[in-house]
Amino acid sequence: MKRLAIPLFLVMCVMGTVNAQTKPAAKKATVKASPKPTTAPAIKPQDIEEGKMLLTKSDCLACHKVDTKVVGPAYADVAKKYPYSAANVDLLSSKIINGGSGTWGAVPMAAHPALTAADAKKMVTYILSLNAK
Ligand code: HEC
Repeated sequence: MKRLAIPLFLVMCVMGTVNAQTKPAAKKATVKASPKPTTAPAIKPQDIEEGKMLLTKSDCLACHKVDTKVVGPAYADVAKKYPYSAANVDLLSSKIINGGSGTWGAVPMAAHPALTAADAKKMVTYILSLNAK
């Protein structure tokens, strides 16, 4: 009986640590992917204002204008292509942070690794709100 108890104890220890390690990782994954087609959170007017301000302060306007294509697509066209939804806000904000290419043409968009996800989401909220105007 003793001989069995020791390996059993070890196995339980290992399982315990595996559990402890996978739990936070699983949490991160759900935060990142969030492909839930849930109803979009209501657009907060404050986020639109802040997003617009953040865009002005960053380098975005060197390549984007609201109504005309420059290096990147016009923001009005982006808003037409992507209806405002939680999934699209996540998608576009991660493209702004990580860079993207192939959706609008051959020219890629540079990554913006210094942006926080929260700020990028506000920028996207502003851009997608253009559709309503
Ligand atoms: C160096 C030029 C450049 C800068 C600076 C730039 N973009 Fe872009 N952006 C592009 C190009 C080019 C594309 C099209 C990429 C593609 O075809 O997938 C694009 C695409 C986008 C899209 C649409 C992505 C898609 O997949 O449909 C959004 C939204 C966007 N940019 C927002 C921003 C924001 C916000 C900033 C500032 C933080 C920014 N861009 C800065 C060139 C730029």
